[in-house]
Amino acid sequence: MTEAPPDFILAIETSCDETAVAVADARGGIFVSRVASQIELHAPHGGVVPELASRNHSADLKPLIQATMEQGGMEWKDISAVAATSGPGLASSLLIGDTTAKAMAAALDCPFYSINHMEGHLLSPFIQKGILIPEHIALVVSGGHTLLVKVGGVGDYEVMGSTKDDAAGEAFDKVGKLLGLAYPGGPEIAKHAAEGDSARFDFPRSMLDSGDNDFSFSGLKTSARYLIEKLNQPLSETDLNDICASFQEAVVDVLVGKLQAAAKQYDTGIIAVSGGVSCNRRLRERCAAMATAGNLELEMAEPAYSTDNAAMIAFAAAARRAAGMPGSPLNTDINPNLRLGSLP
Ligand code: KG4
Ligand code: ZN
Repeated sequence: MTEAPPDFILAIETSCDETAVAVADARGGIFVSRVASQIELHAPHGGVVPELASRNHSADLKPLIQATMEQGGMEWKDISAVAATSGPGLASSLLIGDTTAKAMAAALDCPFYSINHMEGHLLSPFIQKGILIPEHIALVVSGGHTLLVKVGGVGDYEVMGSTKDDAAGEAFDKVGKLLGLAYPGGPEIAKHAAEGDSARFDFPRSMLDSGDNDFSFSGLKTSARYLIEKLNQPLSETDLNDICASFQEAVVDVLVGKLQAAAKQYDTGIIAVSGGVSCNRRLRERCAAMATAGNLELEMAEPAYSTDNAAMIAFAAAARRAAGMPGSPLNTDINPNLRLGSLP
């Protein structure tokens, strides 16, 4: 009996400050996933500098593709589809990955899948669990977005609510900056929060009881600023840890409360959480407790697939392909403001 030829999807993610390449098999199993982070490059600037990001994507991408192919022991003939993030993100960064992927698809004469970065995050809890995406309610919490989504299956996404101002990750990063912590603030705040008293300061839980599925985090940042100004400078280690713990608890209260309410509203029995902020240990604990209490099945993205990566893009392309969805035309444009639900 002759073996079926290898059937791999190579995906590229360059929407912000991570250059990432991954390969998935046709069932969405992740074969290789590599990320070249630019965090140290942007950290001294306190945020992502678009020109620095795109310049480094173009320097790092080709060697990363080669290293990925070598790590997987693959040859070009093993690649039967190529995917890339085509939005949302920084235009000049998106262009690097998107045009490289299209050129590869043209050279290999294989389909090209234009993938929405948020679809990648949204489906990432199901990586290594199965390509058949069940009906569920998803919370996506990243540096740029906070979304509650009703997912009917792959490609069937109804955004139920989103943030009116800052995203949850953005709030972590801005408060981290106010506290003089390194960029990105999320992991730094989480580290200090682990040593602090979350009941010491009373931060607002904006829109927790608004009755809709939207969020607002900009008030939290303002109250953090007023609080920091009132305390003795430089902040003592105890004050710093207690602010971090109290702030984190306020964000987590809102995220978990809203997810719980959305799950009740639709009664799908399954909830999923993804995006960079889903690395947060307290959020993970609280989601798990809420799911157990409500008899809900909880799917959370693995930490390695929570922050930006290309495995989630390869998985989304594999899920689309397995569902019989066609590839995208090679003249599909990138879209820095691409919305979830609208196909690229
Ligand atoms: O998904 P992601 O890597 O990039 C975007 O698509 O935005 O998310 C990055 C965000 C940053 O705001 C970062 O501070 C936050 O995720 N983040 C965290 C943690 N790890 C990363 N926020 C809170 N706690 C963490 N442990
Ligand atoms: Zn992201």
